[in-house]
Amino acid sequence: MKILVTGGLGYIGSHVVVELLNENFEVVILDNLSNSSENVLDGITAITHKKPEFIKLDLREKSAVQDFFKKYSDVSGVIHFAASKAVGESVELPLLYYENNLNTLIYLLSQLKDKNNAQFIFSSSCTVYGQADELPITESAPTKPAESPYGNTKQIGEEIIKDICKVTPNLNAIALRYFNPIGAHESAEIGELPLGVPQNLVPYITQTAIGMREELSVFGDDYPTEDGTCIRDYIHVVDLAKAHVAALKRLVNAKNKDNFEVFNIGTGKGSSVLEVITAFEKVSNTKLNYKIVDRREGDITAAYADTHKANTELGWKSIYSLEKALLSSWKWEQKIRS
Ligand code: NAD
Ligand code: WQD
Repeated sequence: MKILVTGGLGYIGSHVVVELLNENFEVVILDNLSNSSENVLDGITAITHKKPEFIKLDLREKSAVQDFFKKYSDVSGVIHFAASKAVGESVELPLLYYENNLNTLIYLLSQLKDKNNAQFIFSSSCTVYGQADELPITESAPTKPAESPYGNTKQIGEEIIKDICKVTPNLNAIALRYFNPIGAHESAEIGELPLGVPQNLVPYITQTAIGMREELSVFGDDYPTEDGTCIRDYIHVVDLAKAHVAALKRLVNAKNKDNFEVFNIGTGKGSSVLEVITAFEKVSNTKLNYKIVDRREGDITAAYADTHKANTELGWKSIYSLEKALLSSWKWEQKIRS
């Protein structure tokens, strides 16, 4: 079966491509390389000994998307990663985010809605929950007003898919709400490649440890948590990638209970920023230079997933520990700077 992976050369997409190839799916990747490089294909090939088809294409070009589906009429399954993802940048450049994250989605769905049978998996985010009233967070927790245009594109994106699925029984979709993806493939052939100064905790930690950044700023230690720092659910990207294969199989095998479903993808375990630092120091055998600074605007206190629905319905469970994930990030950082 041929699966289209948009944004398949990006951080999460490349790990999903590896898992799809390992499961003998045929893969075609569309990516405009705005936040990735064609070299990622070599990493995927080194791991799987298979080279997926890659087409450089900007999904904001509606006619290019139409032409793709004309030529690749045998593609019915799509995993859609392509999007812009920097929360701070989205506040500065909201139109770019609404255009890139929503137009691309609409163009893809316009192509899929007329197929006899189509499967669609969407990269959503735990950001849709904001600061949830109850922890762990279940899928039925209410969504909160988005803190940023980026977060809003995920909420609106889910709503667009839901509305289209309502009137398109042949389209089956799943939105996966990722918690905090970290780590890299254990081979260190693929991993995260943040452009410029990393905004996320783990790449900032590894770049500090390798000497690219002087010190890590820990954003606040006065939160109402045990050690005062924020709590998140950090999930190994390979675990996250396997959840996509489970979701795809659910749709392909018509095991879904509704033609639009939502799943939390996390470990179910919350870790504080200081716990992440301690775990990183242990696995890397380094001492991290860090200082406590003021809170970062927009940060919530704590978020971690209730994974019951994914565990029982998708038959998927995360297996990697925080330590294992951090070690893989560290190995990747060392490899790309060597
Ligand atoms: P990434 O930037 O590494 O990957 C996105 C890929 O899409 C890149 O290769 C980029 O070049 C490509 N792309 C962007 N716009 C495109 C366009 N118009 N046409 C074609 N290709 C385009 O990001 P990622 O971390 O792998 O995230 C993948 C998805 O998961 C995104 O939708 C993101 O919003 C979502 N997500 C990410 C996180 C996270 O923390 N990384 C968390 C929750 C959800
Ligand atoms: C984690 C924790 C920070 C950097 C973001 C997006 C979210 C989702 C995942 C896409 C927080 C602290 C961080 C640093 C720090 N992406 N931190 N010093 O904020 O949970 O989520 O990425 O959908 O939408 O908002 O992840 O990695 O930025 O932060 O102390 O230099 O680390 O305050 O508590 P976050 P993060």
